[in-house]
Amino acid sequence: MRDPAQRLRVGVVFGGVSPEHEVSVITGLQAAAALDRTRYEIVPLYIAKDGSWYTGPVLLELEAYQDLDALRRAAIPVRFDPAVHGRMLLVEATPRRWPWRRPRRYLVDVVLLALHGGEGENGGVQGLCETLNVPYTGSGVLGSALGMDKVLSKLLCREQGIPVVDFLWFREADWAGREEEWLDRLEAELGYPMVVKPARLGSSIGIQRVEDRQALDAAIEEAFRYDEKVVVERAIRNLREINCAVLGDPSEARPSMLEEPVRSDPSKLLTFQDKYMRGGGKAGRRAGKQQAPQGMASLDRIIPAPLDEAQTRAVQEMAVRVFQLFECAGVARIDFLLDDDTGQVYFNEINTIPGSFSFYLWEPVGVPFDALMDELIRLAQKRHREKNGRVRSYDVNLLSVRSLQGLKGAKQRS
Ligand SMILES: Nc1ncnc2c1ncn2[C@@H]1O[C@H](COP(=O)(O)OP(=O)(O)O)[C@@H](O)[C@H]1O
Ligand SMILES: [Mg+2]
Repeated sequence: MRDPAQRLRVGVVFGGVSPEHEVSVITGLQAAAALDRTRYEIVPLYIAKDGSWYTGPVLLELEAYQDLDALRRAAIPVRFDPAVHGRMLLVEATPRRWPWRRPRRYLVDVVLLALHGGEGENGGVQGLCETLNVPYTGSGVLGSALGMDKVLSKLLCREQGIPVVDFLWFREADWAGREEEWLDRLEAELGYPMVVKPARLGSSIGIQRVEDRQALDAAIEEAFRYDEKVVVERAIRNLREINCAVLGDPSEARPSMLEEPVRSDPSKLLTFQDKYMRGGGKAGRRAGKQQAPQGMASLDRIIPAPLDEAQTRAVQEMAVRVFQLFECAGVARIDFLLDDDTGQVYFNEINTIPGSFSFYLWEPVGVPFDALMDELIRLAQKRHREKNGRVRSYDVNLLSVRSLQGLKGAKQRS
């Protein structure tokens, strides 16, 4: 083992204020189990459902999450100290039992984001890391924010000639008072069946497939409970789903093997249960590593997806194009819809922090989970170096007396 002082301190961040909280706990623990302890020291950072932060070794034990209140009592509450830049400094919030003791401090060199949904995947936490100038894994603020927005993602892809299914979108303020007009327009332009989705959520929450006007109306109202922006799509009747992960950054991006997730009922949507609850949530195993649950890896899927070689390559190329277009980094998973009646493949969505980091799609192409984690950390450090290597401020003080005179003049002229 490397001298402990030389090991990189990796803050593994998981949980979060998101409907995908539990899924993120699983991804976080899987990542922690996969990280090579001879190279990295792990600092778990658990964000509870109310947004408070915790660290401590108990957070690496899956069983501890069965009782979240007990877990929070056993863990160490922390907050970050914004005075430190270039690294993340976590400081024990309130030493409860020993008020006279100095609060413990935890320094983090690289933040490994294993959050799904909400602030953790939409650019919010990424923005915090940018502001602290600490290296973090995965996509930056722009790619994360775009990837979370199903409307903007589709608009961007369509603009670049990447096929997307026909859709319409609107805000609650546009919908309110003009419901019948919208329903008429949706029926005329898309036709049944349709799929209604909140624009910025995941895990199939709030998503419904509808066959008639009454159900469409109800599904839209339901979707507005989750988001003020809603997208309605033409539903593909004979649907197959094909996913491809991409690893790298816009200048070095490579595709994984393809997967075809299998729905429990082929006539229905892929549900939250399909995605995460298969196999009774039993813990999976990785040889020689700590026990880790399966999370996204528990979904029934066919790997590689049974497509012919040309189709496989076309999907992989499209996935890489989307990854580059969205300026993604780290690992992202791009999901496609295949219309089995026509053979047409459509971009559906991009997940900038995919469940379980899609490790099961990398293992078959020769990237085991520990190497995948190494790559994520290398890419985070690379981007950080590039950012810090560029001019980011100027030494001239525009607020100095002479410059201010110039500015005043400029203001008067305008
Ligand atoms: N246009 C569509 N036609 C048919 N089924 C769809 C369509 N869009 C989504 N679905 C189904 O709904 C599921 C969830 O939709 P998706 O856009 O992937 O949202 P989420 O972000 O919640 O995963 C998909 O995995 C698929 O099974
Ligand atoms: Mg999906």
